[in-house]
Amino acid sequence: MENFIQIENDILNKLKNVNDRNSLELVKTGVFGKKGIITELFKKIGSLEQSKKKEFASKLNLLKQKITDSIEKKFIEFDQSEINKKLKNEKIDITLPGRTFLSGKIHPVSQVIDEVTSIFSEIGFSVEEGPDVESEYYNFSALNTPEDHPARDMHDTFYLDHSKELLLRTHTSPVQIRTMLKDKPPFKIIAPGRTYRCDSDQTHSPMFHQLEGLHIDRNINMGHLKGCLYYFVKKFFEVEKVRIRFRPSHFPFTEPSAEVDIGYKIENGKIKVGEGDKWLEVLGCGMVHPNVLKNAKVNTKQYQGYAFGVGIDRLAMLKYGINDLRAFFESDIRWLEFYGFDPLDVPTNYRGLSRW
Ligand code: PHE
Repeated sequence: MENFIQIENDILNKLKNVNDRNSLELVKTGVFGKKGIITELFKKIGSLEQSKKKEFASKLNLLKQKITDSIEKKFIEFDQSEINKKLKNEKIDITLPGRTFLSGKIHPVSQVIDEVTSIFSEIGFSVEEGPDVESEYYNFSALNTPEDHPARDMHDTFYLDHSKELLLRTHTSPVQIRTMLKDKPPFKIIAPGRTYRCDSDQTHSPMFHQLEGLHIDRNINMGHLKGCLYYFVKKFFEVEKVRIRFRPSHFPFTEPSAEVDIGYKIENGKIKVGEGDKWLEVLGCGMVHPNVLKNAKVNTKQYQGYAFGVGIDRLAMLKYGINDLRAFFESDIRWLEFYGFDPLDVPTNYRGLSRW
């Protein structure tokens, strides 16, 4: 029978002399590896006489346990001394200035698009999108806009080719046509997006944003349009009461057409929306013209509805007191830092639309 005590002492002696992790790994392999001392002893059990097997195995298991524990202890010692060494050498200089944490901001236009989407989605509108580069047909003809309409002029519209077949969309209304052509009524959608016109001053930028609304079903009338817009304006400006007026107007794609003004006043140099005796135009709307429905393959004997188009940048300026539209698109990081929104504070109807 092997001298287990001797074997144990040999291994423990080796362990004693070990000074780093690598040599410890080597000793471990020497004991428990494929050809390790203890591994070899286990292999031997099979060839022993029956009478000796039991004693041998139990002594061997005991030895295995002791050595495993000792090796494990050594590993822990090394880990700990490494940590202690690190702690000793590393010092935290608490007098150093902290690192600044730069977080991005949400642009007011994106914020307003999120707010508006959240408001309309609560009353059953879904979101549609269309391309910025539009065909003349979707942007004008399908929308019942006559050939000689001033909006079609080169001075008003950015055309992309001489034949005037492609252009940068001048409004989001072509999304009405695209939506109706790809599906069957009823339709209840909003379409936010970029729009373009040859125009530039303090209140006009050649690229701006609009939100289109379209609701087509059986028996939809002007009352629904008014109700929807009242609801929207109140929710958006987060006020209980709001003064609104519908002023008769003209658009080729709606009949009758109206422009909507909201009441406001200036208080302590700040604009207050909803009250007061001044009026601000915020959107165009009307009942969708039967010619538009026909172009979009909608049966006008069964279906009718309303559409509206709101200037998103305008809404942002009014709600957040920003007075120069051009600053929206100058990409000045200081401006965004000041007027932008917390990326984690996503607007919802329930948590509050804007916490500014
Ligand atoms: N497209 C119109 C504009 O850009 C707004 C509008 C949309 C008017 C829908 C009526 C219906 O001025």
